[in-house]
Amino acid sequence: MSIALLVPGGRGQLGHDLVAAAGDGLVHAPSSAELDLTDAGAVADAVASFADTARDSGLRPVVVNAAAYTAVDQAETDEDRAFAVNAEGPGLLAARCAEHDVPLLHVSTDYVFPGDGTRPYEPGDPTGPRSAYGRTKLAGEERVLAAGERSWVVRTAWVYGASGGNFVKTIARLAGERETLSVVDDQVGSPTWSLDLAHGLVALAGVVAGGGHPERVLHATGGGETTWCGFARAIFAELGLDPERVRPCGTADFPRPAPRPAYSVLSGAAWARAGLTPLRDWREALAAAFATHAVP
Ligand SMILES: NC(=O)c1ccc[n+]([C@@H]2O[C@H](COP(=O)([O-])OP(=O)(O)OC[C@H]3O[C@@H](n4cnc5c(N)ncnc54)[C@H](OP(=O)(O)O)[C@@H]3O)[C@@H](O)[C@H]2O)c1
Repeated sequence: MSIALLVPGGRGQLGHDLVAAAGDGLVHAPSSAELDLTDAGAVADAVASFADTARDSGLRPVVVNAAAYTAVDQAETDEDRAFAVNAEGPGLLAARCAEHDVPLLHVSTDYVFPGDGTRPYEPGDPTGPRSAYGRTKLAGEERVLAAGERSWVVRTAWVYGASGGNFVKTIARLAGERETLSVVDDQVGSPTWSLDLAHGLVALAGVVAGGGHPERVLHATGGGETTWCGFARAIFAELGLDPERVRPCGTADFPRPAPRPAYSVLSGAAWARAGLTPLRDWREALAAAFATHAVP
């Protein structure tokens, strides 16, 4: 039986690519104005009507939550609002999904970890967010997992895609404005093309809709690792520009309101144990994103 998807945050970067990855399937991807996750009544109505419509059409309903308060620095001074969107909203959504026996995939972040690791983080490693955004996302994970047995958390990192602003677009713009750029070279992570992540989430949705029960917390990022400087140099290379125009600098050279994790690499071992195909290597994905004009 085929699946149907409800994607809160459907107009965001990942939401946009979830619609693309779902192909011809039934997908309802409301904007934040159409479905505000902090509005309990709206969430209850949306899940109930989606579950009914999907089942009436002979489809298995799955909710993939792509909605979030993602302004990491702003969250430091707006934590109540970030908590409402990243913790309370997913909690409401998970409760309604459990009530209607609809599986939920909730997307989370590397920022739940302290970022001082020396090997890829496993899903069960101790969390310890260092930012308001990370705290609110961790609280969201806890609420989602507590709501029932058919909810899953998928952590990702360093996401870029066709829709919205992101690092790739920023670097491409700055490449046209400046002769040289200084980019931090002491933060390590795995760039993730949102379309690759979206295909992975659609595959996971198929697994859980079919009654599969993988581990409840999974990691999905592009393969391999680099620094922001390495990522920026690869973007220059894709643009046909000299990567040496990107100069390495340290985190201390760019103080930000929210601390950034020094080490953000997430292990995909649990994802592979679930029988899911690992996302391709980050560099290969970046080339594909440029080749298909998804970016810049
Ligand atoms: N981007 C990254 O590098 C990254 C890294 C790790 C994890 N993640 C996670 O990946 C997921 C997707 O992120 P993204 O990059 O696609 O973010 P995004 O482009 O900022 O999209 C988030 C979407 O959520 C919507 N939203 C905000 N408040 C809402 C509310 N109250 N109710 C319903 N929708 C609301 C936003 O709509 P409006 O624009 O109308 O507010 C936006 O469309 C998030 O869970 C994020 O935490 C992202």
